[in-house]
Amino acid sequence: MVRLAITFAALIAVSTTQAQCTGPPVNQATIDLIAEFEGFSADVYNDPTGNPTIGYGHLCQQSGCSEIPYSIPLSEADGKRLLADDVIPPQNCITQQTAEPVTLNANQYGALVSWAFNVGCGNSGSSSLITRLNNGEDPQTVIAEELPRWNQSGGQVLPGLVRRRAAEVGLAGTATSDPALPAGTC
Ligand SMILES: *[C@@H]1O[C@H](CO)[C@@H](O)[C@H](O)[C@H]1NC(C)=O
Repeated sequence: MVRLAITFAALIAVSTTQAQCTGPPVNQATIDLIAEFEGFSADVYNDPTGNPTIGYGHLCQQSGCSEIPYSIPLSEADGKRLLADDVIPPQNCITQQTAEPVTLNANQYGALVSWAFNVGCGNSGSSSLITRLNNGEDPQTVIAEELPRWNQSGGQVLPGLVRRRAAEVGLAGTATSDPALPAGTC
């Protein structure tokens, strides 16, 4: 019985892994865009909810951010390395929320990852933006029409969000031959 139980658990683990897929890493233009809008701190500070934070809005586990593998004060280059790890969840959710055959180049994908990083994967997943992409509409049209709508926080239009959405639409509209989605493993 014990053997059977272990085998069963292993099967569940395998099928769970296969149902997920890993989003490709965003390009440097995307890291630079997110970095610009997050702002940089070389030293640890407490965010508005009291969490220790460093670099480009990286939330730490330990006070003093002692768990990060870089020296403090943090360099901007190391800050971008932390940021490249922090974009993994939004990379994965944009990849998993879009259904084949949605095809995005590296800049269109990066724009959507920046947006999901900012608004959260729950909001991206229930958005009309993702629904329209999955209905087969032209990505450039959908991105240009839908991203600017995400300009509010707490019921107010924030100029920083208006600028960020414009920068994301600009990135998405920048021609590139680098593909991003569909990702081969999904
Ligand atoms: C903010 O988004 C709304 C739609 O959600 C739009 O009507 C409005 O024009 C936008 N404001 C700015 C300043 O872009």
